[in-house]
Order: sequence, then structure tokens, then C-alpha cells
Amino acid sequence: MLEISRLSKDYPTPRGPLYLLEDISFSLGRGDAAAIMGPSGSGKSTLLYILGTLEPPTAGDVVLEGCHPFQLAERDLARFRNRHIGFIFQDHCLLPQCSVLENVLAPTLIQKAAANYRQRALHLLDQVGLKDRMDHRPAELSGGEKQRVSMARAMIRNPSLLLCDEPTGKSGQPLGGIGGRPAGGAAPAARLHSGGGHSQFDSG
Ligand SMILES: Nc1ncnc2c1ncn2[C@@H]1O[C@H](COP(=O)(O)OP(=O)(O)OP(=O)(O)O)[C@@H](O)[C@H]1O
Ligand SMILES: [Mg+2]
Repeated sequence: MLEISRLSKDYPTPRGPLYLLEDISFSLGRGDAAAIMGPSGSGKSTLLYILGTLEPPTAGDVVLEGCHPFQLAERDLARFRNRHIGFIFQDHCLLPQCSVLENVLAPTLIQKAAANYRQRALHLLDQVGLKDRMDHRPAELSGGEKQRVSMARAMIRNPSLLLCDEPTGKSGQPLGGIGGRPAGGAAPAARLHSGGGHSQFDSG
């Protein structure tokens, strides 16, 4: 389902390239869950950005659901990402001007049948314990509550691949419930979590 081969990533800096990821290969099958662990600054978020097709690798290949996303044109890549990937960002990246419910629904706005997702959004918000906060703005939420909104948003389109960048640190929410067995839709086909030196991995 997900195949990574010979992936490398470096960033140019004034003092020469910063080599972050070197020659990484692995694959995940349907139903697999995996954790990436390493110290701060070791490249965990960078790897997840590449798998989430938000950042291109310097070398190597990513194949998800039989598709080579980095070979797609920008518009097709955006559509592919929207359809197949759910991303819980380390800093949640919620839209500040939108309500909690609107944030969860944001990935569905390009759909013709966007209205059909409202019930699922409310259900996901219920699962993360925030249904009664659906009209709040992100600024009115705690850090952990923002992360829980981000979890619901990541699941709204039933992604094939759920990428979780240190999602349970502040939220107090085990991912097993939402990532593993969400009601109103199938579980994501595969999940990848990042964590710091200690494991926050919940195989759910
Ligand atoms: N655009 C960029 N240009 C240069 N360096 C970058 C860029 N983006 C990230 N880095 C560097 O890459 C390194 C890895 O960053 P990354 O965010 O992947 O680490 P991480 O393992 O997720 O750390 P943390 O546990 O603190 O979240 C850091 O040293 C960071 O400064
Ligand atoms: Mg990180």
C-alpha cells in the first residue's frame, strides 16, 4: 500500500547541505501501523511531510496505493492528497478564522456532496469529546483540544494513510479510538506515528 525506496532528504544551508534522511526504504501493508522514533530535530516531521506529499524528497521514490504522487501535476497531487492522506500536524495547523466544525469539514469543501459530511464531522467531534465546542474558534481551545480537532479533520475523508505527527502528547486522546476504529467509516488502511525519545505509540 505504501512503499518507500531509497528516500533521502537534505536541505541546503549557508554552511552546506543538512543531511536529514539518508537511503530510507520500508513498506506498509493494508492495516499496518508503525511508529517513527528519534530525538528532536532528527527528521521525523520531515519524513512525514514527504509521505504526506507536502514536501518532495531529494532522492528516492514514494508509492502510495500504486501511485507515484511526486510524478503528478500539482493539481492532481492536491486531489490525490485530499483523497488518500490524513495528516495530524505537530502544530495542528487549524484555520483560525473558522469554527471547530468548519475546520473538521475543511478537507471536504472541494467535494460536490460536502453537505453529506456534516453528520460524520459531528460524529468524529463526539469521538474526540468536542461536539459541544463545535462553534468555538481554535483560539478558544487548549493545545490538546486543538490537536483533537486536528485528529477529527484528518479522519473526515476516511484516508488510506493516516500520518500522525506527535498527536497524543497534549491531547490525552489515545489514537486507537479515532484512528483505529472510527464509526461511520472504515479505519484508515495504514497509520504512521512519530514520537520523541519515548513511545507515544498506541497500536489501537
Ligand atoms: N526548510 C528547512 N530548511 C532547513 N532546515 C530545515 C528545514 N525544515 C526543517 N529543517 C531542519 O531539519 C531538522 C529536522 O526537522 P524535523 O522537524 O523533521 O525534526 P523532528 O524530528 O520532527 O523534531 P521534533 O521532535 O522536535 O519535532 C531540524 O534541524 C530542522 O531545523
Ligand atoms: Mg517533529
